[in-house]
Amino acid sequence: MPNFPINDPVLVTCGLPYANGKCHIGHLRTYIPADIFVRSLHKQGQDALFVCGSDTHGTPIVVSAEQLDTTPEQLIEKYHHHFDEVFKNLGIKFDFFGSTDGQVNHNRTNEIVNKLIENNYVYPKKIDLAYCGHCERFLPDRYVEGICPYCESPARGDECDQGCGRHLEPGEIKDPLCKICGNKAKYREQEHFFFRLSSFRDFLLEHLDTLGGTANARNYAREWVTQELKDWCITRNLEWGVRFPGHDELVVYVWVDAPIGYISFTEEYCNTAGQDWKQIWQGDSRIIHFIGLDIAYHHCIFWPAMLKGAGYSLPWAVVASGMVKVEDKTFSKSRGYVVWVNEDYLDHGFHPDLLRYYLASYTSHTKELNFSWTVFQEKVNNELVGSLGNFLYRTLHFANKNFGSVPEGQVSPEVLDEIRETIQNVIEAMDEYEFKKAIDIIMGLSAYGNTYFQSNEPWHLIKQDPDACSRVVKDCLQIAKALVLLFEPVIPTKMTEAWEQLGLKGDVSQKTYEDGLVELESGSILPKPVILFNKIEDKKIAEMEIIMNNRVAEARAKEEKTAPSPTQLPKITFEDFKTMDIRIGTVVNAETIKGSDKLLKLKVDIGEAEPRQVVAGIAQTQGPEEMVDKQVVLLANMKPAKLFGVESNGMIMAADEDGAVLLHPERKVENGTVVR
Ligand code: 2FM
Ligand code: ZN
Repeated sequence: MPNFPINDPVLVTCGLPYANGKCHIGHLRTYIPADIFVRSLHKQGQDALFVCGSDTHGTPIVVSAEQLDTTPEQLIEKYHHHFDEVFKNLGIKFDFFGSTDGQVNHNRTNEIVNKLIENNYVYPKKIDLAYCGHCERFLPDRYVEGICPYCESPARGDECDQGCGRHLEPGEIKDPLCKICGNKAKYREQEHFFFRLSSFRDFLLEHLDTLGGTANARNYAREWVTQELKDWCITRNLEWGVRFPGHDELVVYVWVDAPIGYISFTEEYCNTAGQDWKQIWQGDSRIIHFIGLDIAYHHCIFWPAMLKGAGYSLPWAVVASGMVKVEDKTFSKSRGYVVWVNEDYLDHGFHPDLLRYYLASYTSHTKELNFSWTVFQEKVNNELVGSLGNFLYRTLHFANKNFGSVPEGQVSPEVLDEIRETIQNVIEAMDEYEFKKAIDIIMGLSAYGNTYFQSNEPWHLIKQDPDACSRVVKDCLQIAKALVLLFEPVIPTKMTEAWEQLGLKGDVSQKTYEDGLVELESGSILPKPVILFNKIEDKKIAEMEIIMNNRVAEARAKEEKTAPSPTQLPKITFEDFKTMDIRIGTVVNAETIKGSDKLLKLKVDIGEAEPRQVVAGIAQTQGPEEMVDKQVVLLANMKPAKLFGVESNGMIMAADEDGAVLLHPERKVENGTVVR
């Protein structure tokens, strides 16, 4: 474990995952770049402490536990281990991975809340809260759903998650419904405790002017501070959480004890390492928070105000990653647009480093990242296999075969200059949290190496001019060494293997970028190399796409099942109805669709010149051969859509009763007959 430097402590944290569900690609968008950043600091000779842990309190946990018929304790235990394990498997190396339910966090939260009370930043106030008469309980945060008072979108109790993104205070949501029983909730008065966030306006504006990190987080926060800054209710009616001092019936809001986890995890680490956590949290230090942009409000407004109010050091930088899309669709677990790290990636035998590479190099850290299996394949095959892997293997293979050890001679000054410049540029890019830029620069050195090898034709030189060949090979080996050091933060496992293939000793993660300029020792043995990166086959990608498509189709089917009852839908006029072009047609051809057990591809004659191609989700109740010659009801002016890559120009109508039950006219009618 690295000891942080006593005179210049750096702490890097990652947003704490809620311990109520599995790790997915959305999480990794923050954790992998943070890990790369920390490894890169080490490569610059800068030690840093890297902590994270499970977010174990609040209604996200209690609601999930209730839904899964388990206890919060069991739930958080399960997912705490899950995250810890997945992070290790992905090479994300936290120095400490704690839990906000740990005793140290309970104590630290108490201390900080008491300090805020002492400093007169907390006051009691009676407020109206959503109360369910049926369940006989108050409905904090995610126990209540309703309408956002600011933008009228459907929202949950503490956050307008589908609309304007605002944090909602207890009592703010309109038309509250109880999430447990679905009944309308009423408002009932109760005393709660508030944090005087509004009194921190000037402090926050100043803080945001000096805060480092990415501009997206600061800009977002600045807008909120200038527009509105309301006091925050910091207590909740829950059994589960950190008790509010002096009030056993209340716990503190999860957004109080969760970020305090950053402090208590530092404390727990330092207690075992024999270091003083106060040097980080109450002294001069650089505290760098990696988060998703959706929690910038909490980290750039609420958190620094709380730290200031309790006499703690402030964050030095907040680095916010952009959002994630999956196959060009907004990330959504419920709609199936998700990549689960275990089931959809590691369990299929993909190497962790490939995903690390993809996530860090796809786009700038603050931009939207799209995960697509075909882009994944292209990036791996062209960049890791085609450029980096190719250069490393051809160099090592040639050197091992013809020399067996690092050849005599000195590395050319031009090669050392190229390496030096690359190192400088990479450090600059990393300092700006521009991970893609850093990787592009490193890939530039790989391209340089490939050109150098190719244009010097060592395979000719070995016969014609063995001394010149030695020089070229030594240069290429030096470039390889630099590449391994530069790429270690991004793809640590593969680069550890490459380090060994260079015959080098010691842990490559403990070496510095500058070591890339230290010349390889002539005569040191070069073992027989093995290929580091292999091409991903089309077949494998097709398999992965089928898994994804099936999940999306299943989610869609589920969504259709949970359709609202007729009384909940708005009434429409005959004019509205007339916008639907519904016709009778005869199926003239029917085929299954490869990879889908739910869909059929149909050709339906509705009296047009060509039969219509329609994809219908009826394969589980109908075989293709039964469909031919049948008359069906078709919504003919449905917008075209692609399902499993097959275009669909209409929708076959069916009753939805545990699968599709087709509708037919009572007797045969002409194709194209209108349904009214
Ligand atoms: O939004 C989330 O997923 C939270 N669990 C993040 C907490 S970060 C920190 F402040 F604790
Ligand atoms: Zn809203």
